[in-house]
Amino acid sequence: MDAFLLMGFDASAGVLDALTRFQSLAYILAALLFILALAGLSKQKTARQGNAMGIVGMAIALVATVAVSVFQDQEAAVFTIALILAAVLIGAAIGIWKAAKVQMTAMPELVAMLHSFVGAAAVLVGFNSFLTEPGMAGDASNAFHMGEVGLAVFIGAVTLTGSIVAYLKLSAKISGKPLTLPGRNAINLVMIVACVALIAWAINTTGVEEGLVPLGILTAISLVLGAHLVLAIGGGDMPVVVSMLNSYSGWAAAMAGFTLGNDLLIITGALVGSSGAYLSYIMCQGMNRSFVSVILGGFGGDAPAKSGEARDYGDHTETSPDEVAQLLKESKRVVVTPGYGMAVAQAQYPVAELTRKLIDIGVDVRFGIHPVAGRMPGHMNVLLAEAKVPYDNVFEMDEINDDFGEVDVVLVIGANDTVNPAAETEPDSPIAGMPVMRVWEAGKVIVSKRSMGNAGYAGVQNPLFFNDNTDMLLGDAKISVEAIIASL
Ligand code: TAP
Repeated sequence: MDAFLLMGFDASAGVLDALTRFQSLAYILAALLFILALAGLSKQKTARQGNAMGIVGMAIALVATVAVSVFQDQEAAVFTIALILAAVLIGAAIGIWKAAKVQMTAMPELVAMLHSFVGAAAVLVGFNSFLTEPGMAGDASNAFHMGEVGLAVFIGAVTLTGSIVAYLKLSAKISGKPLTLPGRNAINLVMIVACVALIAWAINTTGVEEGLVPLGILTAISLVLGAHLVLAIGGGDMPVVVSMLNSYSGWAAAMAGFTLGNDLLIITGALVGSSGAYLSYIMCQGMNRSFVSVILGGFGGDAPAKSGEARDYGDHTETSPDEVAQLLKESKRVVVTPGYGMAVAQAQYPVAELTRKLIDIGVDVRFGIHPVAGRMPGHMNVLLAEAKVPYDNVFEMDEINDDFGEVDVVLVIGANDTVNPAAETEPDSPIAGMPVMRVWEAGKVIVSKRSMGNAGYAGVQNPLFFNDNTDMLLGDAKISVEAIIASL
């Protein structure tokens, strides 16, 4: 009997060993797929493929994690599987429903909301890990564990409330104005120092009761810190903040990976953390803002800053859809530079149709995309892909900016700041130094916007509109472009 039990035990230990090895291999494969997914997502052409790789990687990771943990506790296997399946089904149903009904313009707030879940998960995992393995002062390996718990709770709580505030600001449920309390940077610094001290205290505690005091205070301060950090940032900088919170959520997940002893979660968290940080950096560069100035907040409220003085740029000239259609027909090279107005007007479909018609009659049509055109990273690329504009015709600003001298007509569809020459010529302009599309170098520029009264996001006048080679096509972009198509 004993021998039989021993054999059974050995067999089960052997299977567990094999499963653990399979898990390590699966994790390596999943990590590789996640890296390939990021590489794929960096280009419009390969984005779909990148997404698919991420999904496959996550499916492999889930199966590998669940298989081993279920086998480790076979008595509770049915219950564990049922619990996981229920969670996956409920989560997937809510996720699919949300994704199907979200408007493209509401994407940043949805993403902000999702980041708050990652933050909440890191806090919960941290507490769970603490309750199952509380502090043992003097034990070096346990001290390390408590440090991980403290960091997971700290980063998770900051991400949680920071993301909730970002969501509320983006969805206009609270004012976008920055909350500029006197000495706010000092307040933040004091809270950060207190958190570090509390983590050190938690490391030196023994048992649940003793450890709960510093961890509880740490959670409370971190929650306040996260909310305060984002409250201090103006609504205008929210897209950068969302990308920054994306980065925080990655680090929070990596910390949760340490506390759970899950290597793949550490890798995935680090990938999300570093790519989010890099994206924030690219966005700041595109807006000519320093990363630190965004983080410290206090810039940009509901109403964007107005330029110092109103200059007189002279008169503008207006044109009509018929004239534009004639001009386009006679052109060899046309570049379309879309901006936020294209998203507002939902003009991407007629713009795509116009492009097809022009290509059919032999015109070379390309798109020039500014890195911060619109209101979120890749905003224009997503809209153009949605309208099935061929990827090969879409170029980044750096790829096309030197070619405008050889372009016959530039069609500016609802773009303003991203094509404003004042960024290069007026040192006192709020957008001075911001890299812009040099559309004014083209033979002719047609600007589609609704009226001459409204400025762009930065609230500054655009001298481009008054240039001799610029004609204004006033009216809603969708209606204007449809009229051009009709005339063609
Ligand atoms: P904006 O400077 O925001 O200008 C939008 C233009 O679209 C305006 O000229 C507006 O004029 C026009 N417009 C609005 N609705 C329209 C409609 N229905 N039909 C036709 N035109 C319409 O656009 P942009 O060039 O894309 O620049 C983006 C700005 O957002 C930059 O300042 C950037 O720094 C900022 N920003 C971007 C991001 C990201 S990541 N993309 C994040 C934060 C901030 P009318 O009102 O007269 O029509």
